[in-house]
This record gives sequence, C-alpha cells and structure tokens, in this order.
Amino acid sequence: MTQQTLVDGKEVNALAVRGLSKRFNGSAKPVWSDVSFEIPRGQRVAIIGGNGSGKSTLLRCCMRLIEPDAGEVFFGSQRVTGLQGRHLAASRSRVGFVFQKHNLVHRLSVLSNVIHGGMAHTRTPRLWFQSLAPQETRQHALSCLEQVNLADFCHRRTDQLSGGQSQRVAIARALMQKPNMIFADEPVASLDPQAGEDVMQVFSDLAQQQNLTLVFVTHHLEHALRYSDRVLGLREGALTLDTPTQGQSIQQLRGMYE
Ligand SMILES: Nc1ncnc2c1ncn2[C@@H]1O[C@H](COP(=O)(O)OP(=O)(O)OP(=O)(O)O)[C@@H](O)[C@H]1O
Ligand SMILES: [Mg+2]
Repeated sequence: MTQQTLVDGKEVNALAVRGLSKRFNGSAKPVWSDVSFEIPRGQRVAIIGGNGSGKSTLLRCCMRLIEPDAGEVFFGSQRVTGLQGRHLAASRSRVGFVFQKHNLVHRLSVLSNVIHGGMAHTRTPRLWFQSLAPQETRQHALSCLEQVNLADFCHRRTDQLSGGQSQRVAIARALMQKPNMIFADEPVASLDPQAGEDVMQVFSDLAQQQNLTLVFVTHHLEHALRYSDRVLGLREGALTLDTPTQGQSIQQLRGMYE
C-alpha cells in the first residue's frame, strides 16, 4: 500500500521530478528531456529501457551526483535542485543508493562495512572499525543486518561472501543511514537467478514493511513485474512509459526495446 506524507496538511510525494533534462557536454542529443513523474511514499517503481537510454543518469540526476540541465527534483517537500553543501549532503543522506557493484571493503568484516554506512551521518574515524564504534551504532548495524537476514555473518570478512550475500550487505549498509527512499541501479545484474530473486525480495519486503520508497533500475522484466507497483520506461530521449504494473505483461514491456 502506498501513502503520501502530509506536510502542513498537504500531501507530499516521496520523490517528484519536474521537467528534468540532461545533455552531456559534447553530445549532440540530450540523454532525455522534459522528464516528469511523482512517486508517493512507499511505492515500488521499476525503471526500464535499453542500454544507454539514460536510466542510471536519471537516478544520478535525482541525487545530483550528476547535475541536470533543467528541471526540478523534490525529496518530499524539499527542493533538492538548488541545495548546496551540507544541506545537499543532508538531503542525499536520506536516500540509500545500491549499485550493481557493491563496493564493499574486502579486508573488513561485514559489520564494519555496514557501520561505514553510518558515516554519511557521522564522520568519525571510530566508525572505521566495528570494535571502536559506539554500542548504539553497532546495535543499529546489527539490526540492519537482521533486516537482510545476515546477522549470523556479522564477523565474517566480506571477501568470504557470495555475490548475493555481498549485495545484501550493501543493502544493510544503505539502511544504516535510516533512508526513507532507496535507489538501486541494476542491483542484481551480476547475481545468479536465485540470488537475484532473494535480493529483490529483500528490497520489496523492506519497501512494503517499512513504507520505504523503492526505485530500481532493471533489465529483468520479470523482476519489474513481480517487485514493482509501477513501471517507468525511458526510450529515445523521453519518458515514454509510466504505468501501474498490475495488468502489464512481459510482452507489453518488451515493446520498450523494439
Ligand atoms: N559522464 C558521462 N559523460 C558523457 N556521456 C555520458 C556520461 N554518462 C553517461 N553518458 C551517456 O549518456 C547516455 C545514457 O547513459 P546511462 O548510463 O544513463 O544509460 P543506462 O540506461 O543506464 O544504460 P545501461 O542499461 O547500459 O546501464 C549514454 O549514451 C551514455 O553514453
Ligand atoms: Mg545504467
């Protein structure tokens, strides 16, 4: 179920994108232009589209890791476009970002890697090693690991984990920031089918149980159908698909690639 946040009695979306456009320097054509959509809190949204259609660029522009050329992005009632410095950092820190590559620090334990996620809030060297972290931080990291069913692995080095387990650690690390939204860019692209299902199920459960807004990029159309409430599709420089998932079929979604 999705619901909207109330601010001063008015409904506010978790994410709103209005008239967003991006063209990279030296490129004749924009990646996409005039992209607009609003995502209510708790909604699970899949972004699909062919290679190079601009899915990753869209997520990064929403975070302002890449600057859009025009348009506006709102997290809740906060206009992210226009924020600078620590205000931008604070606003970004409420979004957990999970990438295809998990980028864990191999020589550290699972728990230390998750505790690193808390560094977005507190920049202290004490968080580099789990043994130096405050008890409260350690407890929170353990609860994040429990949410991805990995609490038993907390003391294991991350180079001793499977790809699926590593990606679940990356999700736990993102949860450390207490995000209200998760962006995931092809989070299961390098996982085997079963591990991929497991990780998508973890995302989906988090969204449904904690009312987290989930925006994930995928090339697996069956994942788009199974784990989203809504599908957005990019094609030829525009947002050409924005539909509730219910009632869609793989064949219909395949139309985005023809
Ligand atoms: N930093 C950059 N500088 C210049 N061009 C870029 C940059 N990043 C991406 N592009 C171009 O922008 C377009 C969109 O790239 P993007 O990575 O967003 O696509 P995508 O839909 O995520 O593709 P894929 O499915 O392969 O991950 C591509 O043509 C790409 O070459
Ligand atoms: Mg991409």
